[in-house]
Amino acid sequence: MSLEQNSLNTFSEEGVLFLESTVSRLEIEKLRRECTRLALSESTDSYVEEGKEHPRALLGITKKSKIFDSISRSNPFLSVAKQVLKTSNVYLHQAKVNMKAPFRGHSWAWHQDYATWGPVDNCPYDNMLNIFLFLDDITEISGCLYIINRSHKNGVLSGQWENNVAYPLFSTTDNTVAKLFNNGITPLIGNAGTIALVHPSSIHGSNVNLSPKSRWLVHFGYNRCDNHPTKINYKRKDVQANRDFTPLKAL
Ligand code: SIN
Ligand code: MN
Repeated sequence: MSLEQNSLNTFSEEGVLFLESTVSRLEIEKLRRECTRLALSESTDSYVEEGKEHPRALLGITKKSKIFDSISRSNPFLSVAKQVLKTSNVYLHQAKVNMKAPFRGHSWAWHQDYATWGPVDNCPYDNMLNIFLFLDDITEISGCLYIINRSHKNGVLSGQWENNVAYPLFSTTDNTVAKLFNNGITPLIGNAGTIALVHPSSIHGSNVNLSPKSRWLVHFGYNRCDNHPTKINYKRKDVQANRDFTPLKAL
């Protein structure tokens, strides 16, 4: 798949874009079963909210699962990442599933991914790309992700480390969010199989899941191979900041 110029323009202007292409229900079912397997496996790096039965995030999914590895190298994921990042060599800085359990899944404070991937992980530029894949029919009540439009244009914004449910998160200050809030908000809602691109400097966050349905969201964070960390931060696990910069091979 190749994005039209007007879609590329929209993405670079807004910092968020839904793809027309979707992943089939059958494939989604396969990926969901794989998430359940990974969540139960002792060897999976995960964050949990309220015990093993409520995982919040499964990390390093492409290292632990052939199915997730394959999808991250398939069309449209890899082709779109290469096109948006204007290179034929990309790798995954991070690959995870963010899981919100029915009635339980907790919120995420407003933050920028690049506020960690830059200053902490040492990736030189925010020339990176988030691709999200919905593993559920996601609604506002199930705790969808919200993106502040055009918030990616100001580099790393002021923030503070705060204790997130599972691990510390560098969240954007209330004042900064208040200033950008009038830009408008894009909710990542849609049917299972929906794919959305989000700029790594876009401010995003989400509410608790108040619905009786789960909200599972795959997150692939692609990076240009030539934008790999200049210095490894050994305080971060490699499932948080990948140290293997080998270009991904298209499936
Ligand atoms: C994230 O920013 O990685 C998680 C946000 C969410 O899943 O709601
Ligand atoms: Mn994030």
